[in-house]
Amino acid sequence: MMTAVKIFLAGVLLLTIAVAAGQKHETVPPPLVAPRYSYRGNILPILQAKCQPCHFEGGKVFAKLPFNDSTVVAKLGKRLNTRLKDSTDQAVILSWSAHAGAK
Ligand code: HEC
Repeated sequence: MMTAVKIFLAGVLLLTIAVAAGQKHETVPPPLVAPRYSYRGNILPILQAKCQPCHFEGGKVFAKLPFNDSTVVAKLGKRLNTRLKDSTDQAVILSWSAHAGAK
């Protein structure tokens, strides 16, 4: 009885090792294109964090330049970077606005 349990456990262990080893050898192909950013997923969160309150509801330029409108933001494109000082933010804006009309 004990032996059967031990053999079973050894089997489970070996299977686990085999599966783990198999996964290690899987290679992830490098991305063929630069990562694409989305307005909702990447751009809006930056603007919401850094451009409040003026460009959002209740802000003084919300009527003229609402940043919750992707078309307005896409038109401004890299001009946004004159006000965004973080180089990572700037790179994301540049990459996104390079695909003009990006959603
Ligand atoms: C304190 C209020 C305020 C905040 C905060 C603010 N803006 Fe503005 N923004 C304005 C006003 C007012 C205008 C209208 C034109 C002007 O004064 O330059 C404007 C216009 C702009 C323009 C168009 C004019 C230009 O320079 O090309 C851009 C682009 C812009 N803002 C980007 C940003 C970004 C990006 C942020 C966040 C990092 C931001 N703004 C935060 C008030 C603000």
